[in-house]
Amino acid sequence: MKPLLEIEDLKVTFDTRHGAVTALDSVSLSVNAGETLGVVGESGCGKSITALSVMGLVPSPPGRVAGGAIRLLGEDLTKATDARMRALRGAEMAMIFQEPMTSLNPVFTIGAQIAEAIMLHQDIGADGAMKAAVELLDRVGIPSAKARARDYPHQLSGGMRQRVMIAMAVSCQPKLLIADEPTTALDVTVQAQIFDLLNEIQRDFGAAIMLITHDMGAIAEMADRVAVMYAGRVIETGTADNVLDNPRHPYTRGLIDCIPNIAKTEGELREIPGVVPPLHLLGAGCAFAARCDSADARCLREKPALRDHGAHPAACHAVEEGRI
Ligand SMILES: Nc1ncnc2c1ncn2[C@@H]1O[C@H](COP(=O)(O)OP(=O)(O)OP(=O)(O)O)[C@@H](O)[C@H]1O
Ligand SMILES: [Mg+2]
Repeated sequence: MKPLLEIEDLKVTFDTRHGAVTALDSVSLSVNAGETLGVVGESGCGKSITALSVMGLVPSPPGRVAGGAIRLLGEDLTKATDARMRALRGAEMAMIFQEPMTSLNPVFTIGAQIAEAIMLHQDIGADGAMKAAVELLDRVGIPSAKARARDYPHQLSGGMRQRVMIAMAVSCQPKLLIADEPTTALDVTVQAQIFDLLNEIQRDFGAAIMLITHDMGAIAEMADRVAVMYAGRVIETGTADNVLDNPRHPYTRGLIDCIPNIAKTEGELREIPGVVPPLHLLGAGCAFAARCDSADARCLREKPALRDHGAHPAACHAVEEGRI
């Protein structure tokens, strides 16, 4: 079966004061119908730009899709017109963002905003759309949905606003739901509730989910498969079980070591030393080399390709050479 979404060799550049920089470099990944793909990596690795590329929302200028293809059900979105992308957004694919307040309009009630989204893509009158909006609010766990539909965004808690965003995103039953750090702004118990809701929504609506997170713990909870990103590249990919149980790339190992585990760290939160290099300073070698205990001269010289070395694919010379 063909994947629902297939990103192939995607390259995205930005014009900056340092010249053109490559934010996504040969990114390839796929999402199958009905599954959850986790996309994980630290801040600045290119997770959001990958999502925005799929939605056709990369700010341009300064951004530009400079190569590759993004196929949704076989249709290359990099070649789609703006009108076609508007028709696909909301209907076939939808995105929820980290901070729902920035995507909700403060001057309209939440019921009106969901109804509006429904009317944009469906042949349905205002009364029918409002009724559908209330049903959706109820479905995503908003208590007294009919009354709350008349609330404005600021009258809701962060968790409730994220539920509203999810209701809006699934209002037209998209085949692909992209969730970009949907719980980062929420406290831990609310995070768990939102993940539960996403799982339910997936089961009931059959949507595939691309879940973007910097948190390997969330991947372990939610994802069927995972793509680990570093400095604009996918550096390891496989089933969530394989990647979590048998991580191959040192960066993936580092992310897994950062999953809070009281027994292991004795309450201390671990992190990978160092930071993701800025895009204009990326050299010829592996972008992770400066932070990697296993790096040698070849790693500094030559970018490792994403290759299947017997197990799932990883982009690492040390793995390829059997040094780790
Ligand atoms: N408008 C822009 N102009 C120049 N560079 C940009 C622009 N938007 C993003 N970038 C660069 O693209 C890279 C990837 O950014 P992206 O937002 O995808 O990271 P991310 O993985 O989503 O990080 P975070 O976890 O912080 O959300 C970063 O290095 C960022 O600086
Ligand atoms: Mg982001």
